[in-house]
Amino acid sequence: MNKTPRTVLITGCSRGIGHHAAIALAQRGWRVFATTRDDAGRAALEGAGVQVATLDLLDGPEARVRAIIHGAGGIDALVANAGYGLFGCFEDLDPDEWRQQLEVNLFGTVACARAALPSLRQRHGRLVVVGSIAGRRAAPGSSAYNCSKFALEGWAEALRFELQPFGVPVVLVEPGLTQSGFHQARVRGRRVGIDAYGAITRRLEALHKQKEGQGAPVDTAVRSIIQALEHPSPPLRIFPTASARAEVLAPRLLPGAIYERLVRAVLRLPRAD
Ligand SMILES: NC(=O)c1ccc[n+]([C@@H]2O[C@H](COP(=O)([O-])OP(=O)(O)OC[C@H]3O[C@@H](n4cnc5c(N)ncnc54)[C@H](OP(=O)(O)O)[C@@H]3O)[C@@H](O)[C@H]2O)c1
Repeated sequence: MNKTPRTVLITGCSRGIGHHAAIALAQRGWRVFATTRDDAGRAALEGAGVQVATLDLLDGPEARVRAIIHGAGGIDALVANAGYGLFGCFEDLDPDEWRQQLEVNLFGTVACARAALPSLRQRHGRLVVVGSIAGRRAAPGSSAYNCSKFALEGWAEALRFELQPFGVPVVLVEPGLTQSGFHQARVRGRRVGIDAYGAITRRLEALHKQKEGQGAPVDTAVRSIIQALEHPSPPLRIFPTASARAEVLAPRLLPGAIYERLVRAVLRLPRAD
C-alpha cells in the first residue's frame, strides 16, 4: 500500500460480497465509500470506518455516483458489485421483470462506470466488475441473469482495450456459487402462467433450494477483489475458486453434445407438463 490511502467506491454493500470487501479494504488502509439502498448493513460498515452513501441502480445511478465521487474528491477505483438474480423460465416470466434484471445488473453497472471513468482516467485508477461464472456458461431458469452477466463480460473485455492506453486496468472477478445473501435474495419472477413450464420450474426451484447455504465462503470473492485492486498488473479475469474456473472451462473443453448431456444428467430436468 502507498502511504496515501487510495480511495475506492463499492456498490451493493448492505451484505454479501460487497459488504465484506468494503470492510476488508478499509482494514487494509483504503479509504472506502460503500453504497447501500437503505440502512441495511450501515452500522457495521461505519463501525469499520467505511463511508456509506445510498444508491439504487434503478434510480438515476449515473448522477448519483457522480455526486458521490465529487463528494469524495475523486476515486482511484470502482468496484461495480451490486446485482441480483432473477429466476424463472423465459417464456413464462413477466417481461417487465426480465427487463428489470438487465436494468440493474447491466445498465446500472454501466451507468456507474460511466460516472467513474473521468476520475479513473485522471488518476490511472481501476475498474473492477463483479461478474459471475453465469457470464460464461448458462443454466435453465436463469436466462435474464445469464444475459446480464454475459453482456458484462463483453462490455468489460472491450473496455479493457479501450482503457489500457490510459493506464486503467479493467478486471472481472468471476465467482461461482458463494455463501452470501444472493440465493435468499434471488427473485422468483412473476409467472405469466404457462402450465407447460410447471414441472421444470418446480425442479429448478428444488435445485435452488438445495444450493442455499452451499458455496464458497464469501472471503474467496473478497480476496479476488483485493487482488484485482492491488496486484501490480491484474489479469482480465480472476476466479475466486478452482471450481469456478473449472465450471467455466468445462463447456469450452468438452465437445458440445457431451457437455449438454452432462448438464441434463446433473440437473435431471423433467419433461414439460
Ligand atoms: N453469491 C453468488 O453465488 C454469486 C456468484 C457469482 C456472482 N455473484 C455476484 O456478486 C455480486 C454481489 O452479490 P452477493 O453474492 O454479495 O449477493 P447479495 O448478498 O444478495 O448482495 C447483493 C448486493 O447488491 C445490492 N443490490 C441489489 N439490487 C440493487 C439495486 N437495484 N441497486 C443497488 N444495489 C442493489 C443488494 O442490496 P439490497 O440489500 O438493498 O438488496 C446487496 O447489497 C452480484 O453482482 C452477483 O451477481 C454472486
